[in-house]
Amino acid sequence: MYLGLDFGTSSVKGVLIDAKQKIIAIASSPLKVSRPHHGWSEQNPEHWWKATNAVVQQLRKLKPKAVAAVAGIGLSGQQHGATLLDAAGKVLRPCILWNDARSFAECDDILAAEPRAMEITGNIPLAGFTAPKLVWVKKHEPKIFDKVAKVLLPKDYMRFRMTGDYASDMSDSAGTYWLDVEKREWSQAMLKATHMRVDQMPKLFEGTDATGKLSISVAKAWGMPLRPVVAGGGGDNVASAIGIGAVKDGDAFVSLGTSGVMFVSNDRYSPNAGKAVHAFCHAMQGKWHQMGVILSATDSLEWLAGVLKTPAPQLTKALGTKLVGPSDVLFLPYLSGERTPVGDAQIRGAIIGLGHETDAKAMTHAVLDGVAFAFRDSLEALRDAGSNVKRVMAVGGGTKSELWLKIIATVLGVPVDLPAAGEVGGAFGAARMGLMAATGASYAAVCSKPKIAKTILPDAKAKPAYDAAYHRYTKIYPAIKGI
Ligand code: XUL
Repeated sequence: MYLGLDFGTSSVKGVLIDAKQKIIAIASSPLKVSRPHHGWSEQNPEHWWKATNAVVQQLRKLKPKAVAAVAGIGLSGQQHGATLLDAAGKVLRPCILWNDARSFAECDDILAAEPRAMEITGNIPLAGFTAPKLVWVKKHEPKIFDKVAKVLLPKDYMRFRMTGDYASDMSDSAGTYWLDVEKREWSQAMLKATHMRVDQMPKLFEGTDATGKLSISVAKAWGMPLRPVVAGGGGDNVASAIGIGAVKDGDAFVSLGTSGVMFVSNDRYSPNAGKAVHAFCHAMQGKWHQMGVILSATDSLEWLAGVLKTPAPQLTKALGTKLVGPSDVLFLPYLSGERTPVGDAQIRGAIIGLGHETDAKAMTHAVLDGVAFAFRDSLEALRDAGSNVKRVMAVGGGTKSELWLKIIATVLGVPVDLPAAGEVGGAFGAARMGLMAATGASYAAVCSKPKIAKTILPDAKAKPAYDAAYHRYTKIYPAIKGI
């Protein structure tokens, strides 16, 4: 038996699979985000640990014998968060999350301190990444900064609680801005530029390698007498890629979740920092990936649902499933700034073209279109970086809206494959990594693709109008940037 644990922003999720990758049990426990100031986004790591224990105990209740037979655990999680620990391993302050925008000025500080930063990391410094957060802490909370003995990403802090090891994997570490992504090692120059040292970093592993074993006390509390090995695991997007078998060069998916991600696997390291493409390591040695990241995807629809006091599924249902062409109203989904392609933490969203006739349906339509246009921006940026994306798989909560998928297929101009119902998320990918770490099985043997329930093709009739609307959309950011 193998367990995948996904430490997401809105919940911790656990998936138990057997040696044939059949799902045996699933459990989850919710989490909340605290936003104490404008642009801030934090969580208390102790809440992750409580939620994780709740998940394991739920699984034990469902399948005690299967849990007792767990031989490998894989970890997946929200990326970039800065969990700061003192020399005794105590958490020094709430974790600053991936969608926290406070450290935008510190990105400039980093470029000034190390002009080769983009060359070394393959990425533009973004407020969401970990390193600028530490520069912010040094500036604004110097007493805490002085006590920092280790900086861990969210899933790696959970690993520390589970095993006592300070370890991380390449894919998640690539999102810190301290990794030399091509060489797959900590960059002394980047650490120096942010006043950090290599001894404050965890030890690096590939995602499919074992980093250690569950500690005796946790193994006892969790009812896992085999003391399972714990795999390096990966950032949630890489874990999702492993879950849907996106491991070959050009394999791509869009994730329509809180954040939106356009992901493509690469056999070589191919950055495009200028367009804020994320060029990170994949879970396997010698493999990389590129991502375009939209900070507010389903989060944009949730925002509208809050304003209109109508649940999001009701809003999308009111539009029906027929594609009628683009909305007259344009929506820029930059509610908490944007990563790809603009890399701008201070910009905010916009609605353009409101008229007396604009009602809840028109606004919903504009939001679905706007997120699709943001995905197109990411696709263009990945293409600029040399990736040849011919079709994409779609995952995440937003894929429940058939209309949204039709809009996305038409705006991207590529077929969108929808996996058959079943487990395909980060937790399943993490479980696969647990299996590989425990058995030594190869990724080629383990990472099969799911069955496709249906393929949504671009609508040829609506495409020219959508292309024109996308062209208008691309003019919004340069026009409002200076305001
Ligand atoms: C990726 C990113 C988000 C988080 C969400 O760079 O920041 O996808 O990982 O959990």
